[in-house]
Amino acid sequence: MTTYAEIYRRSLADPAGFWAEQAEGIDWIRRFDRVLDDSRPPFYRWFVGGVLNTCWNAVDRHIERGRGDQTAIIYDSAMTGDKRWITYRELRELVARFAGVLRRQGIGKGDRVIVYMPMVPEAVIAMLACARIGAIHSVVFGGFAAHELAARIDDAQPKLVVSASCGLEPGRIVPYKPLLDRAISISRHKPERCILLQRPQAQATMVPGRDLDWQEEMAGAEPVDCVPVAATDPLYILYTSGTTGQPKGIVRDHGGHAVALHWSMRNIYGVEPGEVYWAASDVGWVVGHSYIVYGPLIHGNTTVLYEGKPVGTPDAGAFWRVISEHRVAALFTAPTAFRAIKKEDPEGRLVRRYDLSRFRTLFLAGERCDPDTLLWAQAKLGVPVIDHWWQTETGWAICANPVGIELLPIKPGSCSLPMPGYDLRILDENGADVPAGQMGAIALRLPLPPGTLPTLWNADERYLQSYLSRYPGHYLTGDAGYRDADGYVFVMSRTDDVINVAGHRLSTGQMEEVLAAHPDVAECAVIGVADELKGELPLAFVVLKAGVTRDHEVVRRELVEQVRDRIGPVAAFRLVAIVNRLPKTRSGKILRGTMKRIADSTPWKMPATIDDPLILDEIAEALRSLGYARQASRLDG
Ligand code: COA
Ligand code: AMP
Repeated sequence: MTTYAEIYRRSLADPAGFWAEQAEGIDWIRRFDRVLDDSRPPFYRWFVGGVLNTCWNAVDRHIERGRGDQTAIIYDSAMTGDKRWITYRELRELVARFAGVLRRQGIGKGDRVIVYMPMVPEAVIAMLACARIGAIHSVVFGGFAAHELAARIDDAQPKLVVSASCGLEPGRIVPYKPLLDRAISISRHKPERCILLQRPQAQATMVPGRDLDWQEEMAGAEPVDCVPVAATDPLYILYTSGTTGQPKGIVRDHGGHAVALHWSMRNIYGVEPGEVYWAASDVGWVVGHSYIVYGPLIHGNTTVLYEGKPVGTPDAGAFWRVISEHRVAALFTAPTAFRAIKKEDPEGRLVRRYDLSRFRTLFLAGERCDPDTLLWAQAKLGVPVIDHWWQTETGWAICANPVGIELLPIKPGSCSLPMPGYDLRILDENGADVPAGQMGAIALRLPLPPGTLPTLWNADERYLQSYLSRYPGHYLTGDAGYRDADGYVFVMSRTDDVINVAGHRLSTGQMEEVLAAHPDVAECAVIGVADELKGELPLAFVVLKAGVTRDHEVVRRELVEQVRDRIGPVAAFRLVAIVNRLPKTRSGKILRGTMKRIADSTPWKMPATIDDPLILDEIAEALRSLGYARQASRLDG
């Protein structure tokens, strides 16, 4: 038997040999000439010269190999009660026809298509149809506001947008069309066409000459075959939060992506083709791309597309119902979902109502998993709970416990060990490796393995600046953490302005930009404060301009509304402290870290460089009025 340690060692010693072997799991139209092109560091390319089609690998090939009647997608909407089982054969028919719809609108290789859709099968069909014809999709999460959509339209410059009339959230219908229309009205780039799926819960008003109806277009469409695409061509762009208001367009290629995801399904998630795999996320996030759509389908699994929440749809047993009804073998979700379930059903009574005998493993990622949540889930479910760590940029796990190879000892609080190809380093300020047990910046020595980002969309320079310039020869993850004596990795916090709210990645810098645009705001700082349910919540300190005499409550409401309107409800922005001044260093840097420690009641030290120490008393007072900093204690007296 080959152990994790042997596989990992080999992947670093002989990356080309290792990944060439894994590439056998993929159907190539033309085999690659070179596994790794390292002729232009720090830019690396995998499977150069290779030609394939990702949609073929995710759909068509399974029919050729006898899986045509196997369910590819189980759609389960806890919001409407709808359920649909789509076989691989039916999926090919739907995807090939929608590819025909796109082709008829002049979409071809390299053209961008934005997909702004809720969790319905048509979202997956649209993604796969793009892959089929070599178009580049960019899926935008439904919880983002029109401005965010507009920013992505301007950056990706799509010819066409695929959307739906609405999304469904507990207690409310979210009409997507007004958001889409508004986004297109404010974007500089104007897509030529929009294709709208009308859902029965809301009817979208169509713009004549621009908007087309999904059903009508599908009715008259000719199916289209898979086209050959270079392994190094982009499959998709997925925007994620960086430190500024301008989101980063993470690029994913075809070849490396297909190889890495295929490898991960058996080795990390421990599932065999034909088994049911469920990632309870959203197609708008990277987890949705990799593990609702591409990973399970490329591997010949049945994937579950769940429209609903872990609680309230209708209760905290929703996940157990889906697992038992659809015979799920592995579930992947965010720790926040389990915190929500634990809050509603601390004894796990609902778990016992369902037959979970086929369920083998729970995987958690998207945010730090507190040991309490992991141990609770493990005790209630009686299966291993695997915390694994990754990012939109990497597309698959950097660190995990590869249960398909061997189940390594689980250490709560740790995301276990690096996966093949990830040469992980914990570095100090000067780029030197720190000893075990000591915190540092987590960096990955280049090259990164297949499936990770080759660059940012139309922004090579930003890619270099954001990720590769801090420690030459390394990719900067933006996370800080440490390794223990066994090499287990503990990811503790971000080192930049990114926060994680209910597993959703958000930029405090972006929120600051939105708040600063309010006419009464002189300056502001947003930090992430600890939250029992969502992990973190954004909290803003706002200094009003001199002479502003308006009621603070009114200003506060306007600021909350402004963030919801500009970024979206997903920001969960509600906490605003209006203060007279912000604490700064003598050189003018806002002391966000100190404010966060005070808010979270983590012992804090007075920074030696602070301009005026008294300001922190006012900050602590403002935090206490919002229910934070109750036990804040200063270490140095
Ligand atoms: N379209 C429109 N609005 C959306 C949306 C979508 N796709 N997704 C979320 N929202 C809205 C919600 O309705 C809510 O609005 P509100 O402020 O009016 O209530 C807001 O965005 C925040 O949503 P959410 O973060 O989902 O919080 P919640 O309080 O509704 O639910 C949890 C809390 C823990 C149940 C929920 O966050 C959850 O299921 N998290 C799992 C996280 C996850 O899957 N992460 C993906 C990475 S693996
Ligand atoms: P995203 O790009 O949205 O997937 O967010 C990636 C970020 O989420 C990482 O950089 C981490 O900060 C955080 N994250 C994801 N998974 C974990 C984990 N298992 N443990 C700690 N942090 C995590």
